[in-house]
Amino acid sequence: MDRQNLETVLMENRKFVPSDEFKKRAHISSLDEYFTRYRKSIDDPEKFWGSIAEELHWFKKWDRVLNEEDAPFFKWFENGKTNISYNCLDRHLETGVRNKAAIIWEGEPGEQRVLTYWDLAREVNKFANALRNLGIKHGDRIAIYLPMIPELAIAMLACARIGAIHTVIFAGFSAESIRDRVLDCDARMVITADGGWRRGNVLQLKNIVDEAIQECDCVKDVVVVKRAHGDPFPCHIKEGRDHWYHRIIDEVSAVCPPAEVDSEDLLFLLYTSGTTGKPKGIIHTTGGYMVFTYLTAKYVFDLRPEDVYWCTADIGWVTGHSYIVYGPLANGATCLMYEGTPNWPDKGRFWNIIEKYGVTVFYTAPTAIRTFMKWGERWPEKYDLSSLRLLGTVGEPINPEAWIWYNKIIGGENCPIVDTWWQTETGGIMITPLPGCMDTKPGSATYPFFGIDVTVLNESGEETEAGFLAIKKPWPGMLRGIYSDAKRYKETYWSKWPDVYFPGDGAKKDSDGYYWILGRVDDVVNVSGHRIGTAELESIFVEHETIAESAVIGIKHEVKGQALVAFVSLKEGVKASPELEGELKHWVVKKIGKFAIPERIIFAADLPKTRSGKIMRRLLRDVSEGRALGNITTLADAAVIDDLKAKYEEG
Ligand code: PRX
Repeated sequence: MDRQNLETVLMENRKFVPSDEFKKRAHISSLDEYFTRYRKSIDDPEKFWGSIAEELHWFKKWDRVLNEEDAPFFKWFENGKTNISYNCLDRHLETGVRNKAAIIWEGEPGEQRVLTYWDLAREVNKFANALRNLGIKHGDRIAIYLPMIPELAIAMLACARIGAIHTVIFAGFSAESIRDRVLDCDARMVITADGGWRRGNVLQLKNIVDEAIQECDCVKDVVVVKRAHGDPFPCHIKEGRDHWYHRIIDEVSAVCPPAEVDSEDLLFLLYTSGTTGKPKGIIHTTGGYMVFTYLTAKYVFDLRPEDVYWCTADIGWVTGHSYIVYGPLANGATCLMYEGTPNWPDKGRFWNIIEKYGVTVFYTAPTAIRTFMKWGERWPEKYDLSSLRLLGTVGEPINPEAWIWYNKIIGGENCPIVDTWWQTETGGIMITPLPGCMDTKPGSATYPFFGIDVTVLNESGEETEAGFLAIKKPWPGMLRGIYSDAKRYKETYWSKWPDVYFPGDGAKKDSDGYYWILGRVDDVVNVSGHRIGTAELESIFVEHETIAESAVIGIKHEVKGQALVAFVSLKEGVKASPELEGELKHWVVKKIGKFAIPERIIFAADLPKTRSGKIMRRLLRDVSEGRALGNITTLADAAVIDDLKAKYEEG
């Protein structure tokens, strides 16, 4: 448990009360109403979730809301038949939502596109037909490696429409990471673009895919969206395998009847880091995920018909899946989507977008907020942000200082802040304020969402004030497994205590019943909201020909929340040098992607180990954070740590 986090949390007792005006119009407008509905949702989850599911379209109604017989392999809305693309699109076409903007998109160079629900439905239908023409069938896996352009959402919805399973790979991942994911799920197709804009440059996505799939015989077709228009490099198209997106959608009908998929049919896989060297393919299925993202989006973002809702995440992460695509579209909301970075062409880009489109709900990450703080108030102050009515954060604990800044400078002290705790595995938001009905405290995710039975447990499974966060009951948006690894699913999430889900986070519950998330308690590091497993990085380092051993840890970082520090020992005869450090950083970029580069690489003669040979990471953390060393009695060779300390302090 991170003691410093715990102390910060214990000292924070400011409360912020939502305005009467917000309260009056909120979906859930009083704490009493929240508690009453929460109680009902916990006492009778089947009744609660069943009645929410009735708000959506089912081709055939489920036989049973929850089947717990084969726990932890739970089934939700058993034998129900539905389609999430139908619920995100067709369901709205008979209503006033038909002509409303579904996606308002801005490219980094400045282009704008608006797709109404009608337009989006046509595009999705056409692409779904094109996929069918290429032989894609129900249950096929399709990897998507696209920039933040509307075709990314279109591709996901088109897969869902025909019952194909998408796995979106964030466009910052390297060729090797793509290859590993494609092979793990045996993907039949990759959908990519010639390029995508990022900080004024074109990322050459298609070239990266070409390299990635050289060894992937499973990939039969590659669909390429023309985004960069050959600028500044040409895109090679391999006859027979590669197809331009605009060509294949040109030849097809705009009507593609949705597949009537089973509630428990796989909707998508999303790879995320865990505590071993291999990323896990998290499985999400259709019905439960649809109901959960629909309801959480509606209540947490208090969606109203006139909102312009902007989630700044990349769709390559779960936040974008649940709260750019599925949740908001199931609600008929208008989503803003932006392709590029916040500092292009200058540091005012986000605020310019908020002013230009009159954004009302803004959802971003604490690391972004801390970056904006560093850039200074003069950037947001140049723009009119008065359209905003609600702010949100996600991805990591928000420090109270950043929360206060967000509230004052961006929210004008007039917008509730929803600090939403959840994970790739949970599918949707689990602990969060419901705006309007709850007072907020900077740094606290407040109360559990409806149907989420949360507690804090100690190692032996007893309730405690500060300990491990635990979820006591299944919920509809929960992961259904790890792709082709049922054993790992059970061991990772369901074996710490019997029948309780273990998310891997530390937490504290205060005397008002508010939850404070204290960060990961396992070897997963959260760098700028990106999850990176230290074991994954360690195994990459030892694959390098110069490295004998490595230990990677996370340390506190002012802007990124956490940063990575790698301690590496070199093989006999290899000398440490700045060139080697550069080469190792390049190695990480090649193996994972830029975002996983460690803040520092320390060359060590040896690593601190116990007599049984286990690396003592705790001591490495003490060294890196400048603390007095903890207990070193179990250390095999005490001189090792002095040497490391000296090296670390040398800079
Ligand atoms: O440690 C928690 C942290 O992010 C982890 C989940 O990461 P990922 O699966 O990549 O999903 C991120 C977006 C949902 C959690 O185990 N985390 C996420 N949100 C919060 C948070 N920690 C504290 N407060 C949050 N609001």
